[in-house]
Amino acid sequence: MIAVYPGSFDPITVGHIDIIQRMSSKFEEFHILVAKSGDKEYFFSEEERVDLIKGALPKISNLKIHIGSGLTIDFAKKIKADCILRGLRAISDFEYEMAMANMNKKLAAEIETLIVFASPQHHFISSRLVKEVARHGGDLSGLVPPIVEQALMKKQE
Ligand code: COA
Repeated sequence: MIAVYPGSFDPITVGHIDIIQRMSSKFEEFHILVAKSGDKEYFFSEEERVDLIKGALPKISNLKIHIGSGLTIDFAKKIKADCILRGLRAISDFEYEMAMANMNKKLAAEIETLIVFASPQHHFISSRLVKEVARHGGDLSGLVPPIVEQALMKKQE
């Protein structure tokens, strides 16, 4: 089975890493797609986000990281993925995820969206809040890996 785990990863947090570590071994191929979400303005460039993902993760033999420019479902079709994987933290994520899953289903019925619950200790973590904490010089330990913490601090200088 082949899975795509798409997201903005701006930046990758311990919540994303938890999902990747729990799920990557369940698939023959596990692809992380750094994709663009609507009109979101990003703090890190795509290349920076890829470098942070690479630096934050241990070696995972079946993992590949990509930058996406179009629809996630088109990328999933191109690499013959069986499913798109998304993490769900709270009920507030649900409607957005359901709309995206249904639209992707309409575009390619053969590809399933798989939803995995984030671990409870990560439910409050989001990239936006992490950036806000960083902007005000708050403590980022336990929220992002050290490489991301350093990158966030450097951007504030
Ligand atoms: N633990 C903690 N936080 C998590 C998490 C987890 N397991 N999973 C997601 N998050 C957070 C992220 O940090 C992010 O926080 P933010 O909104 O404060 O930045 C938030 O949840 C959602 O982020 P993410 O999972 O990166 O999704 P996204 O909404 O930014 O990305 C795309 C959505 C990029 C996957 C989607 O827009 C996409 O596929 N774009 C390409 C074009 C396309 O196909 N569009 C869809 C058409 S149906």
